[in-house]
Amino acid sequence: MTSETSKCDMSVDIAGVKLANPLMPASGTCGYGDEYADFLDIRRFGAFVTKSITPLPRQGNDYPRVVETRAGMMNAIGLANVGLDEFIRAKVPTLRNLGLPVFVNVAGVTVDDYLTVARALESVDVVRGVELNISCPNVKEGGIQFGVDPAQVYKVVSAVRGVCRKNVLIVKLSPNVTDITATAAAAVDGGAQALSMINTFTAMAVDVERRRPVLANVTGGLSGPAIRPIAVNMVHRVYTKVAKAAGVPIIGMGGIQHANDALEFLIAGASALAVGTALFVNPSCVVDIADGIQRYLVRHGYKSVSELVGSLQVDK
Ligand SMILES: Cc1cc2nc3c(=O)[nH]c(=O)nc-3n(C[C@H](O)[C@H](O)[C@H](O)COP(=O)(O)O)c2cc1C
Repeated sequence: MTSETSKCDMSVDIAGVKLANPLMPASGTCGYGDEYADFLDIRRFGAFVTKSITPLPRQGNDYPRVVETRAGMMNAIGLANVGLDEFIRAKVPTLRNLGLPVFVNVAGVTVDDYLTVARALESVDVVRGVELNISCPNVKEGGIQFGVDPAQVYKVVSAVRGVCRKNVLIVKLSPNVTDITATAAAAVDGGAQALSMINTFTAMAVDVERRRPVLANVTGGLSGPAIRPIAVNMVHRVYTKVAKAAGVPIIGMGGIQHANDALEFLIAGASALAVGTALFVNPSCVVDIADGIQRYLVRHGYKSVSELVGSLQVDK
């Protein structure tokens, strides 16, 4: 960081949680904070987001569960994680050492699953927020995902809101819907204090020689540069139609790789940003992105990154 660029205030506020800069890792792409220690100083992020935590440990799906695509990757990890108890016992001490606000991504297949994890995290000091991953199958309700039906979104979000006192409630939206502003509105009505978007797109790769799906799970979630323009549009629609009026900040993500990508999301309406797939290509890209945002702010005469949020000029 140069002395010129250090004039700009990079801090952002997510529902009362102050971040030194708007960047965080996207859930599931930086583990529990211990996996990238050799490649990247995690403290360069403004906050840390864990991979999804469920009440009990999960092995996840069979292998292969990731595949590269021309402009990104597909994953079908299947929420593999150590489970709530082991997370608190073995992972929280590492997270505490980071000195960053921690948002824990929470997943489940029933409302009770979400409640169990969210309740337990209320007594973990380093955790400042829970990010609800509502893109998992809701088996008790007949196999649909919570995140694709506004009524289900409202149900799970309002239930979890009831147990969040210390922790900020962030709801992560699925892009696999006809109208993402409907699920966003349901999340806000249910008590979401921030929205994060977007999760991955359901997709498939075919091994043509074997005429079989590449992923053992058949389908996977597409992420990376391929989805960025769609994510930017979704962020802008949710910002203008739901989040701005409600005063709910958006954490934007989907293919952010360079500073310019991050700026697109900020201008479209995101208050903060998550970087996922790009970390697999270049773990230190977060430093370049932060420096690039700083340079842009100076060049355009902004005093703080927040001034840029939602500044898109549209002539219609
Ligand atoms: C390998 C991998 C694992 C992921 N695991 C999770 C997860 O556990 N929970 C979740 O909410 N999102 C998960 N995601 C989705 C990301 O958090 C993010 O929403 C998505 O990848 C879009 O951002 P990107 O294009 O920068 O990767 C995962 C993505 C990848 C690539």
